Amino acid sequence: MTPTPPHASTKIIAMTSGKGGVGKTVVSANLAAALARTGRRVLVLDADLGLANLDVVLNLYPKVTLHDVFTGKSSLRDAILPAPGGFSVLLAGSGMVEYSRMTPEVREQLQQVMQVVEPMFDHVLLDTGAGISDVVLYTVSLAGEVLVVVTPEPTSLTDAYATIKVLATGQGRRRMRLIVNQARRPGDGRTVRQQLQQVVDRYVNPGLDSPVQLDLLGELPADPAMREAVQRRELVFETLPGAPVSIALAAIAGRMTAA
Ligand SMILES: Nc1ncnc2c1ncn2[C@@H]1O[C@H](COP(=O)(O)OP(=O)(O)OP(=O)(O)O)[C@@H](O)[C@H]1O
Ligand SMILES: [Mg+2]
Repeated sequence: MTPTPPHASTKIIAMTSGKGGVGKTVVSANLAAALARTGRRVLVLDADLGLANLDVVLNLYPKVTLHDVFTGKSSLRDAILPAPGGFSVLLAGSGMVEYSRMTPEVREQLQQVMQVVEPMFDHVLLDTGAGISDVVLYTVSLAGEVLVVVTPEPTSLTDAYATIKVLATGQGRRRMRLIVNQARRPGDGRTVRQQLQQVVDRYVNPGLDSPVQLDLLGELPADPAMREAVQRRELVFETLPGAPVSIALAAIAGRMTAA
């Protein structure tokens, strides 16, 4: 394995979506495991600060979360925990209404966290909440790259379009990558990308200085193995590496690490 040059491939990647429940958290966790398998140092930060559930997916019971870091009860280094898939996590709390809106304090804290972790890892995945709240938009703004997770359902497509439009107009994003999750048949990914690109070309691009380009990073099949692994609070990529969804995850990780 060729060693990764220090910081050369550091990428802060926001995993976001319009609609909730499309698979951002399970895809972030499993993709992190797939990237870790290639020798990359990976951190997943639970950016769903008020309604976190990365800990649930990973079966972790954190004593220290980002909330403790923000309130000075813990150092950032103590809050970075090892996860089962060979990557690191920064977890958040649940039911914390104080994180339902982005305050200047939290904004600054998050920014500082990113500055510290960026040089420590090859990839930092931000598992954001769904939608276009100020919390989500701010966490996405910290990332160099945006990965929009979308399923082929019409509601998910509509909400993904809204997110893409807001990120294009509000953050000047011109390239965004798609992971089409819960694909029903091979080729759903290409179809979804094409549909979204068409709507963006028609309704968003005419008003912009340069056009928004959507790239398909990959598609992940709807796979009962994924659902069952979530029930057991295990990573499908770890426990069932031969499952269709795990093979597709490895392919996506391969594309992300290709030179
Ligand atoms: N490829 C897949 N095949 C089968 N089931 C899947 C797949 N991806 C996700 N799921 C199911 O969808 C559920 C929701 O996933 P997850 O919690 O990751 O969504 P989310 O986008 O993070 O939700 P939220 O918006 O609430 O943060 C999972 O518990 C799992 O059962
Ligand atoms: Mg989630």
